[in-house]
Amino acid sequence: MTKYESTKQALIKSPKKWLVTGAAGFIGSNLLEALLKLNQTVVGLDNFSTGYQHNLDQVENAVRDAEKNNYPNGQDSLIAGISTNHFSNPG
Ligand SMILES: NC(=O)c1ccc[n+]([C@@H]2O[C@H](COP(=O)([O-])OP(=O)(O)OC[C@H]3O[C@@H](n4cnc5c(N)ncnc54)[C@H](O)[C@@H]3O)[C@@H](O)[C@H]2O)c1
Repeated sequence: MTKYESTKQALIKSPKKWLVTGAAGFIGSNLLEALLKLNQTVVGLDNFSTGYQHNLDQVENAVRDAEKNNYPNGQDSLIAGISTNHFSNPG
């Protein structure tokens, strides 16, 4: 088993809470999807300066229904967290 595989198994066995910054971006949305598929609890943060809602929509479509329950307060929590920070960019 590779180190990557053993790390994934360890995370599944002992889930963690993660904060993903830039969750609506390219790297962030892929990380978000990977973590949710490993049954992790994830909060996403993004001000949509270069991120896209469709990246998050793709994550939602890709993650199985059961895995969507890993958002802290249900499926809407990720969106709520991102929306809250939408206005954080003074530019
Ligand atoms: N299909 C592809 O292969 C593809 C697509 C897109 C990007 N890329 C590559 O990926 C790399 C960039 O990806 P990335 O994920 O680093 O960039 P990104 O711009 O996609 O993601 C950064 C995210 O951080 C957010 N953000 C920035 N400042 C913030 C702040 N102050 N507070 C909250 N959120 C903030 C942005 O809104 C964005 O969603 C580049 O090398 C690019 O060429 C590849």
